[in-house]
Amino acid sequence: MWNHTRSVLAGLLASLLTGCVNAQSMAETTGGNKVDDREIASMMEKHCISCHAAEPSNEIYAAPAGGLSLETLASVREFAWEIRLQTVDSDLMPLGNTTDMTQAEREQLGSWLNQQEDQ
Ligand code: HEC
Repeated sequence: MWNHTRSVLAGLLASLLTGCVNAQSMAETTGGNKVDDREIASMMEKHCISCHAAEPSNEIYAAPAGGLSLETLASVREFAWEIRLQTVDSDLMPLGNTTDMTQAEREQLGSWLNQQEDQ
């Protein structure tokens, strides 16, 4: 009985949580607001550059992880396809998601990448 109640509660909690995430990402994608370059620059700073820089602050790496530096938006644009694959369409990056990148941020990055293609 208790086990059953517990799993029902867990299910309820899970659906509450995903409900929140969906509501959040809806807010990001609706409204047609353009994503500002600065938001992406600070997103890279927060989630990527510790590993993807000429001199990564992450001590594990002596050179940019995967040979990829994301310190400029030009390089983010250049590797748009790979970044979309790893970060928007999947959560392979940030590696292990140690920086807790959110679904809303991934969608924001996706919108920005779309904007670059539209230009
Ligand atoms: C903890 C370190 C770390 C963080 C943080 C990180 N990466 Fe990576 N990334 C790596 C490593 C290591 C590789 C190389 C993996 C490989 O070649 O299998 C890599 C590879 C990649 C690649 C290249 C894959 C390919 O096609 O060769 C892309 C694109 C990428 N990362 C994007 C990102 C983006 C965007 C972020 C931030 C949202 C990010 N990474 C954050 C460690 C990291």
